[in-house]
Formats: sequence, C-alpha cells, structure tokens
Amino acid sequence: MNNLKHQSYHIDRLTYENRNKHRGIALWLTGLSGSGKSTLANGLHQKLFEIGMHSIVLDGDNTRLGINKDLGFSNKDRIENIRRVAEITKLFVETGHIVITAFISPFKENRIQAKRIISENDFLEVYIDSTLETCEHRDVKGLYKKARLGEIKDFTGVSSPYDTPDSADIHINTNKSSISESVELLFKQLNSKL
Ligand code: ADX
Repeated sequence: MNNLKHQSYHIDRLTYENRNKHRGIALWLTGLSGSGKSTLANGLHQKLFEIGMHSIVLDGDNTRLGINKDLGFSNKDRIENIRRVAEITKLFVETGHIVITAFISPFKENRIQAKRIISENDFLEVYIDSTLETCEHRDVKGLYKKARLGEIKDFTGVSSPYDTPDSADIHINTNKSSISESVELLFKQLNSKL
C-alpha cells in the first residue's frame, strides 16, 4: 500500500470539453524515423490552433531532451519512454485536449499498453507509413547514414525492429501524399471520429 488516493477536482473532464467545444482524444502517430510524424503533427496542430481547437504536440526528440533524458534506445528504455508519454497524454486528454503524439513507438505490445493507459475510447492509432527506403533516402537528420556505419546502435529499421501496425485507426501514406494532403487527410479523419 502506498497510501495514495486519486484526487478529484471541481473542473471535470466534461466541463473542459464543453468549454473547448470538442472532446479530448489522443492521436497516436507511429512510424519510422523520417516518416513525417513530426511534420504532420506540426501541420495538424497549426490547423487546429487556427480554428480554436485545443491541441498539444508531444514529440520524441523534445521529450527525450527533457522528462525522458535519462532514457536511451534499448527495448526497455523505449518501452519506458512510451509508458511515460502515455501517462502524460492521459492527463491532457482528460482536460479536453487533442493530444498529437509523434513517437516511433516501434513495438505493437507497447502501443497497446499506451492505449490501455490512455483508455481505449480516447485513443486513435495513426500509422505514418513510409518505406524504409524513402526514410533512409530523406535522412533528414543524417542518422540512417550513421546507423549503417555502426556509429549509432539499435536504430529502428536498421538494427532495431519496427512492428508495422496491422489495424491502425488512421493510415497515412507519406510516400503517396504530399505534406499538405496528408495534414488535410488527418484533419478529416480526426473530425469524422470526434
Ligand atoms: S521510440 O522508439 O522510443 O518511440 P522516439 O520517437 O522517442 O523513439 O525517438 C526517436 C527519435 O530519436 C528519432 O526521430 C531520432 O531523431 C532519434 N534517435 C536517436 N537514436 C535513435 C535510435 N537508435 N533509434 C531511433 N531513433 C533514434
């Protein structure tokens, strides 16, 4: 027993959602490094902001510089990374935010765990689909090159696995659609599920 009890506050979830004029929900973006997760999260967030919707982006590169700076890229650390982010996401969802997360989140089991933490009804898995060849060709951060040279170990798609989602709620193929088309598609799909 840790003697803790969940505290309730006067402003509850429904009050937030009524004020915001939309429900809280998590859009869980998963995909390889360089697939376009952060770019699309950024584009969607901007669009939602402009029309007065309450969203927030949580991004792997940023959270790994702060709350998760003690974590690396072993399987164990990635699992802990996603667990913490899911807990943070839940807090924002419960206060009426549309939370757009941009994490590779390579393991299927771990994504299921995130869904469980956040709650089944508040979670949409969004597969940002781009082939390894395309991501490696883009190599925006130069990390694939380093991974191939063995300078970075456990790199997703090269020396660490990625479980392709088989039943994502939303599927965006960034090989086929441009950034603006993908953002528009994501926006439409989100609205149909809100
Ligand atoms: S996750 O696997 O734990 O979900 P996360 O999304 O937080 O990963 O971080 C991925 C980002 O970290 C990549 O976009 C890339 O910029 C950087 N990175 C550094 N090392 C690695 C690595 N070994 N594997 C994957 N990404 C890495």
